[in-house]
Amino acid sequence: MTNFRVAVIPGSLRRNAFSKMTAKALTELAPESCRVEVLPIGDLPLYNEDLETVQPIPKAWSDYRELIRGFDAFIFVTPEYNRSVPAALKNAVDVASRPYGKGVWMNKPAAVVSVSPGAIGGFGANQDLRKILACVGVSVMPKEIYIGSVHELFNREGALTNDKTREFLSRFMEQYADWVRRNQA
Ligand SMILES: Cc1cc2nc3c(=O)[nH]c(=O)nc-3n(C[C@H](O)[C@H](O)[C@H](O)COP(=O)(O)O)c2cc1C
Repeated sequence: MTNFRVAVIPGSLRRNAFSKMTAKALTELAPESCRVEVLPIGDLPLYNEDLETVQPIPKAWSDYRELIRGFDAFIFVTPEYNRSVPAALKNAVDVASRPYGKGVWMNKPAAVVSVSPGAIGGFGANQDLRKILACVGVSVMPKEIYIGSVHELFNREGALTNDKTREFLSRFMEQYADWVRRNQA
């Protein structure tokens, strides 16, 4: 069976973030064909193009670019900040998109999952992230996943306790694996 190395990237820096809990749940629900791990983004200095011209560039940037290069596919789990993507997540995408022409996202497949305690599941963040990812060359999975009322789905330890959501995400992970297989770079 083909094996894909998949990074799930939660877009929040918060310790008890629902996006991190969702990311962890996705790693547990992944089919055998996917080796999935959570990739944090909290240690990346803000992108500043001046620093590309001073060697060495920030180690956190070069390490992160190498990490991204090594994955076959991605799942972004974004919260919504003011109807868009949190700055930390946008920064992570920006860092690995440069230097110009050498971005490491190019042609990699990715899905977007948005989460929110609100009813509309981070729709604005989801749509904005899809646009951003398309700009850096990612093949974005057409299926859109919005998870509303996310605060009701996990227990205090951060484990997914809602059976319907588990079924839904489990089915999504099957579809995702199939889609990655058909859309490999
Ligand atoms: C700066 C800021 C802006 C926010 N804007 C929105 C928003 O536009 N839509 C929304 O549904 N929730 C919004 N929220 C609430 C977040 O959905 C909530 O804090 C959520 O738990 C953040 O995700 P996390 O648990 O993964 O950290 C906002 C929160 C912050 C801190």
